[in-house]
Amino acid sequence: MHMLKRPRRNRKSVAIRDMVAETKLSVSDFMFPLFLLEGKSQKTEVTSMPGIYRFTTDLMLKEIEECMKLGIRSFDIFPVVSEIHKDKTASKSYETDFFYNQSLAKIKNEFPEACIMTDVAMDPYSIDGHDGLVDEDGNILNDETLEILGSMALAQAETGIDIIGPSDMMDGRVEYIRDILDENGFEETSIMSYTAKYASAFYGPFRDALDSAPKFGDKKTYQMNPANQREAIIEADLDEEEGADFLMVKPALAYLDVIKLLKDNYDLPIAAYNVSGEYSMVKAAGQMGWLDAEKAMMESLLSIKRAGAKVILTYFAKEAAQLMKA
Ligand code: PBG
Repeated sequence: MHMLKRPRRNRKSVAIRDMVAETKLSVSDFMFPLFLLEGKSQKTEVTSMPGIYRFTTDLMLKEIEECMKLGIRSFDIFPVVSEIHKDKTASKSYETDFFYNQSLAKIKNEFPEACIMTDVAMDPYSIDGHDGLVDEDGNILNDETLEILGSMALAQAETGIDIIGPSDMMDGRVEYIRDILDENGFEETSIMSYTAKYASAFYGPFRDALDSAPKFGDKKTYQMNPANQREAIIEADLDEEEGADFLMVKPALAYLDVIKLLKDNYDLPIAAYNVSGEYSMVKAAGQMGWLDAEKAMMESLLSIKRAGAKVILTYFAKEAAQLMKA
């Protein structure tokens, strides 16, 4: 049959397919989220995230070393805070001698060339399990929370880490944190703002990992409504004005349109958080033999990059890096 255009010609061999590939994943795109335990010589698997462990500092140092050998240089570290340390005001979060801040300093000291990001939000340290301060009526207070977030960010910056990651979704937090960092001589500490963070069911396994689920209600008065795309522009405008260095979309896979929207409208690097539930779904289906988990993993990561994310926070980082090295 006579046809001028046959798109299949550009798919006829591996060589041609690779040559015309528009998107290529690189290990340097990845940031690996890690869960930090208090204490020594402990490593426990997160039941709802097969292959993902919580580590005490000594073992986390080993894990980071292994990852660095695979080419992963960026890590986002979250603390597992035991119930006895939790209170209304998340006071442990800004104590310099709390194990999280102490460990961050050790990690950064051991691996000065690694890029270490920390999380700023009250939930792991709060008895209410919310990202902000809760009043008697159960309202999440915005401006009062900023003071706590500011102290938390400063305590983390003092450990020498590279990037502060405000994941709390309070209004005005990027500027508030930027000001405190600058006033204290931390002009070089970056901020990766959780710009468009949606109130998502896909955070479930993460809350298991940290035991940080809200004790009442949900996070819908601060995290965004999954129905909204244009609202992401409002958040991104603010973060850009307030001095963010990266704009993040979270979750990633159910929000590829939002990643693309920010990529098309902003010049700052776009990050996407391929969250816990997105990891667990692939793993669970793989374990059931319902899909090829390795292929689904690589396709998911590629789609996040294709949508416009340069930085991909993903629990698949190590596994994907191993595969990409092979
Ligand atoms: C805390 C925080 C959450 C995640 C990252 N930081 C949970 C939440 O907001 O409830 C989710 C990460 C994931 O699911 O992998 N503010």
